[in-house]
Amino acid sequence: MSAAPAPAAAAAAAPEPAPGPEPPAAADGAAEHRALVLTGFGGYEKLKVQPRRSTGPGPGEVSVRVHACGLNFADLLARQGLYERLPPPPVCPGMECAGVVRALGDGVQDRQVGDKVMVLAKSGLWQEVVNVPARQTFLMPAGMSFEEAAALPVNYITAYMILFDFGNLRPNQSVLIHMAAGGVGTAAIQLCKTVENVTIFGTASASKHDVLRSSGVAHPIDYRTMDYAEEVRKISPKGVDIVLDPLGGSDTSKAFNLLKPMGKLITYGVANLLTGQKKSLVAMAKTWWNQFSINALQLLHHNKAVCGYDLGSMEEEFELIGRVLSKLDNLYSQGKIKPKIDSVWPFDQVADAMRQMQEKKNVGKVILVPEAPKEESKKEEN
Ligand SMILES: NC(=O)c1ccc[n+]([C@@H]2O[C@H](COP(=O)([O-])OP(=O)(O)OC[C@H]3O[C@@H](n4cnc5c(N)ncnc54)[C@H](OP(=O)(O)O)[C@@H]3O)[C@@H](O)[C@H]2O)c1
Repeated sequence: MSAAPAPAAAAAAAPEPAPGPEPPAAADGAAEHRALVLTGFGGYEKLKVQPRRSTGPGPGEVSVRVHACGLNFADLLARQGLYERLPPPPVCPGMECAGVVRALGDGVQDRQVGDKVMVLAKSGLWQEVVNVPARQTFLMPAGMSFEEAAALPVNYITAYMILFDFGNLRPNQSVLIHMAAGGVGTAAIQLCKTVENVTIFGTASASKHDVLRSSGVAHPIDYRTMDYAEEVRKISPKGVDIVLDPLGGSDTSKAFNLLKPMGKLITYGVANLLTGQKKSLVAMAKTWWNQFSINALQLLHHNKAVCGYDLGSMEEEFELIGRVLSKLDNLYSQGKIKPKIDSVWPFDQVADAMRQMQEKKNVGKVILVPEAPKEESKKEEN
């Protein structure tokens, strides 16, 4: 962890919490739990903790007591109304979480009460209790903490599929990873290290370069003060074999131009849309105007591949996702990958959690937990 970010950051290293109490009852006797709700598009203040009525799981669903949730870059875009997969507010965001199965709906056979699971969904997981289709839950690898399990699905599935399924990464190749110290970036570095002699170029803010070097990035580049494409060419005049592009706009064209013959560009994000707390029409126009476009004939002459990836559009691909997760499970068991937790924030501090990511301070994954961890509360009391 780079700075001293979160009051609750120490929880990343803390042992797993004991299963929490059941939700308290509302005035009319019905059980209630706390949920984070996006009340409208805009700044950090649009997210509020609100009570929600707890219901039992429907047929085919499991009810999960949530211990940790992942914050993703898309959640920052969604808060500003720039992520079309989130239903309109008021809505509970949250695409990934980890917790314990507390009840089974009719017809659920492959999960048991007490199972520790990771959950993936389009939205709605930033709550103390969630009811989700059983097929959207995946057993946590043995020995994994809830924080790690909440950090794994989106970042590692994405990194795995773009590097290996689209990128076809092989020994002795070179990769340019943007946002290298972030969630997907950290996962991509660890996965590159599972292949022999891969040279990693990584862009990130300068304060993160020592961490990048120690995690295996041969050439960290400060994209904020220099032209990263020029820097790559100084070291490797022919360019690189694979560029992972989470930025969009003019950076996608730069990525294409940096590819060696037979190189692959995988575009999977539009981080350039985010310039401040609220939606920027200028950034939107600039990104749209500079959008990379190429036709099949031009591709043919260049000997390059362009791929687009969006995990959110694979919501029905449970078998595909399950297969990737089982490969990730193996890599975790062998000690080859390990989610890096930047900081852990209680639901009440979701604004600070978002600020941590949006102000470019995070190194690894930002995690939300329903309550402030107990150890930390004790420290604060003293
Ligand atoms: N297509 C998919 O299925 C999929 C799935 C997951 C993630 N993604 C994409 O992958 C990228 C990384 O996502 P993540 O969740 O792992 O986030 P992340 O990398 O942890 O994001 C935060 C970091 O991004 C860097 N950054 C670059 N441009 C930024 C900007 N305009 N505003 C704020 N920070 C910026 C900052 O670090 P530095 O300044 O140090 O670089 C910041 O610390 C995002 O573009 C996301 O949308 C796509």
